[in-house]
Amino acid sequence: MTNEMKDKKLLEIKDLKVSFFTPVGEVKAVGGISYDLNYGEVMGIVGESGSGKSVEAYAIMGLLQSPGKVVGGSITFDGEDVLAKTSKEMQDFRGNSVSMIFQNPMTCLNPVYTVGNQLIEAVQCHNKVTKAQAKARAVEMLELVGINNPVRRMDQYPHEFSGGMRQRVMIAMGLICDPKMLIADEPTTALDVTIQAQIIELMKDIQKKTQMAIIFITHNLGVVAEVCDRVSVMYAGKIVEQGDVKDIFYHPHHPYTLGLLRSMPRVDAKEYERLIPIEGTPVDMLNPPVGCPFGPRCEHCMKICLRMEPPRIDLGNGHTSACWLLADEAKKEGTPNE
Ligand SMILES: Nc1ncnc2c1ncn2[C@@H]1O[C@H](COP(=O)(O)OP(=O)(O)OP(=O)(O)O)[C@@H](O)[C@H]1O
Ligand code: SF4
Ligand SMILES: [Mg+2]
Repeated sequence: MTNEMKDKKLLEIKDLKVSFFTPVGEVKAVGGISYDLNYGEVMGIVGESGSGKSVEAYAIMGLLQSPGKVVGGSITFDGEDVLAKTSKEMQDFRGNSVSMIFQNPMTCLNPVYTVGNQLIEAVQCHNKVTKAQAKARAVEMLELVGINNPVRRMDQYPHEFSGGMRQRVMIAMGLICDPKMLIADEPTTALDVTIQAQIIELMKDIQKKTQMAIIFITHNLGVVAEVCDRVSVMYAGKIVEQGDVKDIFYHPHHPYTLGLLRSMPRVDAKEYERLIPIEGTPVDMLNPPVGCPFGPRCEHCMKICLRMEPPRIDLGNGHTSACWLLADEAKKEGTPNE
């Protein structure tokens, strides 16, 4: 890829809002998030369970299920308005432009077809090629993801593969149509630690070879440090901090990001250094707090935080933090107990 391409925007998300209209009320699962992703760039999305990471991904892929609905904002991919696409156009979009790999590969592989047939079908569904050409491509992809004896493995069924090998097949499936962007939603959580590390190495390798853009959703900050160029930290459906991976790890600003970093096991941690979990409970998405969503759990909470949502403040170099601590006038009001 040329440097010129690398500076070109591939994905632009502006003020995206997704709600679930449940019998007990509206759940604002994604409450207005914005970011851009350039060609070939890897964005990590981190945040605790329920923060809206998967819902955001489903919205980009057009895979939201009722009662979930995009209620605001825009998604532009390669200059095209994704939300204006028909369902047929979305199918083409999912096959040719973006792919997604999910947490549990068994939910996406059909147990009654051989792995080869499923890969061949994925190629033929989106490209006008002969069966022999599709088969050659399938074998090539299995080889790329590190599966030995790919020709023989083509005739086997998903249950004949180990968990790690199945996840490799899913990656092959995701890459087979040469997408411009891949969304990987917790692609390794179902695997044991050694296999996780191998899959992460594989994804890094493939990213280098193919130069595709990746949105990498994970709970694991170590994976983010290893794989990503930029990071978005999500809390209660919002991006609370965003920046280059180095800025997020070495100059974190938002109290929630600091909490996440403190709760992360370090490779060099001494035995007596305990991990500090973030205190308090996650937001009740049916009744979110007024003001800053992290307010009730934040040790720096000020009066203004309980009244007004903090703006996203620019710290330079694309680093932003949505926190009142950056606004001098906010501190004048003092803390809730003052
Ligand atoms: N079918 C649904 N009906 C109602 N609310 C839903 C539904 N699916 C998701 N939500 C809401 O959307 C929020 C975000 O869910 P999402 O699956 O995106 O979380 P996540 O960040 O991917 O979490 P995890 O790390 O556990 O995968 C949840 O807190 C939940 O309130
Ligand atoms: S805005 Fe206030 S409550 Fe929210 S993270 Fe910043 S200091 Fe804490
Ligand atoms: Mg999820």
